[in-house]
Order: sequence, then structure tokens, then C-alpha cells
Amino acid sequence: MWKVHYDKVGKENHPPAYTLSQALVLMKSKGDLNEFKAIDLGCGNGVDTFAMLNEGLEVLAIDKESDSLLHIQKNIKTEHIPKITFKSTSFESLKELPSVDLVNATFSLPFCHPDKFENLWAVILKSINTKGYFCGHFFGVKDSWSSNNEMIFHDEKAIKSLFEGFELLYFKETTKEGKTLSGKEKFWHVFHVVAQKK
Ligand SMILES: C[S@@+](CC[C@H](N)C(=O)[O-])C[C@H]1O[C@@H](n2cnc3c(N)ncnc32)[C@H](O)[C@@H]1O
Repeated sequence: MWKVHYDKVGKENHPPAYTLSQALVLMKSKGDLNEFKAIDLGCGNGVDTFAMLNEGLEVLAIDKESDSLLHIQKNIKTEHIPKITFKSTSFESLKELPSVDLVNATFSLPFCHPDKFENLWAVILKSINTKGYFCGHFFGVKDSWSSNNEMIFHDEKAIKSLFEGFELLYFKETTKEGKTLSGKEKFWHVFHVVAQKK
């Protein structure tokens, strides 16, 4: 299902997510990134995973699509192979994650089934070390996909309550008419978040 998306992100040479870039800048000011571990949830074709590996982080990349692993295997630099682990699993079946300094989830968490999101979020919260970071996106309730009851949508209050134990370092709500990567018209309602666990 995601193959077209992965090819397009790859061909158009998309940069890593702004939220991830911001988190990496903040982390760099705290220490050597070679010492840090991260998880890339819903890593897709690996654009963010590769950005983290380039900065020296060790990365656990997670995605349920087998095409994701194929893209990563094809494009990873040989010297980064010892620093990546790929786990092919769905958010819905995640029971635990290792302790890390950063959880990145770029445009992926909204695809978790709403009935399973509470569990997923508890697993994410547990995995982030004290003073560790979360960066990623949530879809808002005005998003044109919000009638899809297989996906999860949040309002601002709900997102802020997810981050009760965090300091919100970057929080931006955007709305715009646009297109999906496959060219379909779509109204985007997105919350962009970078947060640090207290
Ligand atoms: C919009 S893409 C984003 C990919 C990547 N993070 C990026 O920014 O290019 C969403 C990704 O989440 C993955 N995904 C969607 N639902 C998932 C689920 N329930 N469990 C695990 N991965 C999922 C998809 O396979 C896809 O790779």
C-alpha cells in the first residue's frame, strides 16, 4: 500500500522532517549524538532513519510494511548497518520498546487503530528516557480523512494531555488544502510536535 509513497519520497529526495531536525539540534546541544539511541516509528522509506544514522544515533526502525525494509536495505550506507535494527511490526501489536533518548514518529501515529492508540502511547511514554525527546505529528479532527474510523485524530487539548509529563518545545497546528503524495486532493490538519520528557 505504501510503495508509491516510498518511491515518491525517495525520488523527490525529501528532506527529513522539520520536527526531527529540530529535535536533533536540541540533542546536539546536550551531548555527543553517537551516545544516543532512537526509535523511528513508521519509518517508511527511511528518510528520517538515515538522517539519524548520519548524525551518529543508533536507530530501531519500525514499520509494518515489508517494502519499508526493502527500501532501507537498498539505500543504507554500509557503515551504518551496525547501528540499525529493523523491526517489522504494527503499532497495534507493539507490547514494549527499548529505552531510548528519542522517539520519532513522522506522519505515522495517525495510522494507528484508535482502539489501540492508548496502549501504543503508554509503550512510547515508557520507552523515552527522562530528558529524552519525542518528535512527530498528529492529525487534527478537521483533517479530511477524519471520517476514517481505522485512524486516530486529536484536538489540541487531547494532544496536550498526551504530553503532560513533557515540556513542549515546538507545537504548531497547520491547516491547508493540498494533495497527498499520490496526487489526491486532501485537507490537511496537522499538529507538529517536539517535546522533552521532564
Ligand atoms: C505517511 S508514511 C510516513 C513514513 C515516514 N515516516 C516518512 O516520513 O516518510 C506512514 C508510515 O507508517 C507506516 N504505518 C502505517 N500504519 C502503521 C501501523 N499500524 N503500524 C506500523 N506502521 C504503520 C506505513 O507503513 C508508512 O510507512
